[in-house]
Amino acid sequence: MMNHLVNGDAYQLESDWMAARQRLNLDFSRLTPQPIEPSYLNPSPGKLTFPNGEAYQFTANDLIDQEIIGQGSYGGVVTRMQHKQSGNVMAVKRVRAHEINTAEREKMLRELKIIIDSQNCEDIVKFYGAIFQDGDCWICMEIMDCSLDKFYREVYKIGEKLPEAVVGFIAASVVRALNYLKEALNIIHRDVKPSNILMCKSGFVKLCDFGISGYLVDSIAKTQDVGCQVYMAPERLSERKYDVRSDIWSLGVSLVEVCIGRFPYEDWNSVFDQLQAVVHGDPPLLSASGDYTIELVNFVNRCLIKDMNSRPKFSELMEDPFFKHYNAQGLAFVEQRASFGEYVARFLPIE
Ligand SMILES: Nc1ncnc2c1ncn2[C@@H]1O[C@H](COP(=O)(O)OP(=O)(O)O)[C@@H](O)[C@H]1O
Ligand SMILES: [Mg+2]
Repeated sequence: MMNHLVNGDAYQLESDWMAARQRLNLDFSRLTPQPIEPSYLNPSPGKLTFPNGEAYQFTANDLIDQEIIGQGSYGGVVTRMQHKQSGNVMAVKRVRAHEINTAEREKMLRELKIIIDSQNCEDIVKFYGAIFQDGDCWICMEIMDCSLDKFYREVYKIGEKLPEAVVGFIAASVVRALNYLKEALNIIHRDVKPSNILMCKSGFVKLCDFGISGYLVDSIAKTQDVGCQVYMAPERLSERKYDVRSDIWSLGVSLVEVCIGRFPYEDWNSVFDQLQAVVHGDPPLLSASGDYTIELVNFVNRCLIKDMNSRPKFSELMEDPFFKHYNAQGLAFVEQRASFGEYVARFLPIE
């Protein structure tokens, strides 16, 4: 499969974010940056705050490196680490912060700021703290059990399909997370795909990886496309246009992928192939095969309406009966979460 479609090196950010960044005036050359938000991010030593309210000053010496759990597309490494004093285990994403160009630095700071700002959303991975160490920014966060890309492959490996309720629970969680980013932070994720959707046996599905997220300007992100994107919507490829509905397309492709057990397009050998398939070809719709209800199939296929203007926005998607069913309230939701968690647990640990 083809990678690195367009490597834009300039991000156009919302002006107040630019202004905020200039005010911060981080001096990475000495690796003693001014805090972005004093309460969240201090110069080393940093502060770790766990969900039970316990807080610790920490440096890299307080963390025991246990195992690499993820190797991302941008050279970042995610490691499982244990905090010595509390015994808590967490995921630490190391993002390069030293000897990088302006665009890379902005990407790093933006990623950090977004995860810090989205802590009120249950469907986004929790942030514990950050430090600058050895030229990297270490983003410490809650550890999840696996990502959706690895998970669905395990399921298909033993000849099963993802149950409808599992797909529904995942879809509802991701829609809530994306809607939160848009409504609360005016951000679009821009990299929705199975490897950026995390799951755990306690029944949570959480969106992660804000490395190429962007702020919306006049509801359309004026930006060069960045990154390894095979989930890109037609309008991003053809017109470099991007709004929230482009993330909905990527969610649609991801949902088809987990429902059929493979990436829904044929392998591409070039950018031209991808353009042909995505911009000029039919959308990779889910067919009503009997494995899933018509409600699921309709929901997924609404995400894959090729014309961006006819594709639903979050407000419409959240009125869809399929979303509503899996966005239950009260006890029904607790039960959905519990059975989702039990299903995930069956496949753990995933190597
Ligand atoms: N909090 C976490 N808990 C468990 N695994 C994680 C966590 N964060 C990331 N990972 C794993 O690491 C991979 C890469 O992390 P990600 O943030 O997506 O980095 P990149 O920007 O390099 O894609 C993910 O696909 C996932 O498998
Ligand atoms: Mg990722």
